[in-house]
Amino acid sequence: MKNQMLNINVTSSLVDKWRGDVIAVAVYDDQQPQKSLEECGEVVSEEVKRVLKDRWINGKDGETLLIPTPAKSGILAKRVLIVGMGARKKVNLEGLRVLGAQLVAACEKHNITSMNCLMALDKHNGIKRNQVLESVAEGIWLGSYRFEQFQSKKSKEESKPVNPKVYFATRKEHTDRSKKSLEAVAAICRGVNLARDLGNSPGNILNPETLVDRVKVLMEELPVKVTVLNEKALAKKGMNGILAVGQGSGTPPRLITMEYNNGGDKPVLAVVGKAITFDSGGISIKPSVKMEEMKFDMCGGAAVLGFMQAIAQMKLEVNVVGIVPTAENLPSGSAQRPGDIIKTAKGVFVEVVNTDAEGRLILADALHHAESFDPEVIIDLATLTGACVVALGAHASGIMGNNSKLLKKIRKVGDGCGDRVWPLPLFDAYQKQIKSTVADIKNVGGPGGGTITAGCFLSRFVEEDRDWVHIDIAGTAWDMASSKPNFPKGATGVGVRLLCSYAEKYFA
Ligand code: BES
Ligand code: MN
Ligand code: ZN
Repeated sequence: MKNQMLNINVTSSLVDKWRGDVIAVAVYDDQQPQKSLEECGEVVSEEVKRVLKDRWINGKDGETLLIPTPAKSGILAKRVLIVGMGARKKVNLEGLRVLGAQLVAACEKHNITSMNCLMALDKHNGIKRNQVLESVAEGIWLGSYRFEQFQSKKSKEESKPVNPKVYFATRKEHTDRSKKSLEAVAAICRGVNLARDLGNSPGNILNPETLVDRVKVLMEELPVKVTVLNEKALAKKGMNGILAVGQGSGTPPRLITMEYNNGGDKPVLAVVGKAITFDSGGISIKPSVKMEEMKFDMCGGAAVLGFMQAIAQMKLEVNVVGIVPTAENLPSGSAQRPGDIIKTAKGVFVEVVNTDAEGRLILADALHHAESFDPEVIIDLATLTGACVVALGAHASGIMGNNSKLLKKIRKVGDGCGDRVWPLPLFDAYQKQIKSTVADIKNVGGPGGGTITAGCFLSRFVEEDRDWVHIDIAGTAWDMASSKPNFPKGATGVGVRLLCSYAEKYFA
């Protein structure tokens, strides 16, 4: 079940004497390959530079050229791969991640068994050497992810899995630092790929109970304390939001709490993730077109789990509590009805106008639970509204919150790590839209502003002076088109990189 990522190492041996399959070089569109290699230092000999000199490609973004190593060159590797990076001025971290994924694609296409990457792309556009290594490695690890758990041997062979050994040519004095960088990136990528595995798992395999089992196994070997509330315990705490959503399913709901305390007396960061293992809509049932994609409705929770695993593996010096409410939203004789009124753990009465607006009901109790840890910041992630897919599509998650400085920080972190976010307002005027005539609030807030009124609903369950950010990942959590090479079809693992970068920057 464990996701095996391919091997990436650094090597400082002279590239000429490297006896592998492919030497990979990236070039901008404004220069010949040998020029960029100057920056590789002693690991690249004059021979390599001479060989590459005439093998000029335009260097356009995504362009690749694979040539057999010319005879008598003195280079022991079998082949040389040149990859175009596009315009020098346009190169950024995201471009480097895509480059890594392009290298993976080349490995698959040409059956490359080992690859020594000469990525001498530092000192440009403010990108540091380590960032080049980190971004390209991330692209390789995230681009080579496959969900093959349920494919029999035959179809796996058909898809010809390649598992190249990857090296980065590195100057000797940089090897220790580079290895450390790779370790950290590996932990983050394992977290992203864990979130993808969970997201891609279908509803018959992953339900609230099996998710709990999985979490216990995953966290057992890590310094993370796991506490699980079952129906009885949920009832005792008055968590009727979670209970109501789960009551239509044969598999009862749960609330998972994970505590990672490795930050001494530093403040606590609380992260909350929606984990509806399947969302049929309940009695307010969804149309059947694309309903199968509602197995992804636990991707917020998956992001929290991937994040917890990553920070624990990195031994990040932070205090984090991860909270994952999980339920299955099904219609049945025991399901909640439209019109039901429930009392949440916080004491707020909610009129359930639409049972398909279930995410906010489980988050209501989970956010209230997060308050009990007195965190400095609460961040929640949820595939909350179809309206967010309409507003922002697949290239940014929606963010809302009660502290504009914090929102700005999250935006900046998102721009850097690739999990981009964009703000929507929580003006008071929108709050009126969720006023109920029979309870305190109702769980839908039409007409208009569906993502915002969902955010307004959640805001009622955090204390007013608590810094809180809500991230709607409905449009970014999965991508059936694989529109980016570092994001294969299916769950994207969105949120893991964002949370890791944020925790590293502001809580470590
Ligand atoms: N999980 C869905 C939101 C969703 C829909 C995410 C499509 C990604 C793609 C959520 O539980 C939901 O059904 N929301 C409703 C809310 C409405 C009833 C107020 C929606 O967005 O239609
Ligand atoms: Mn729903
Ligand atoms: Zn949902």
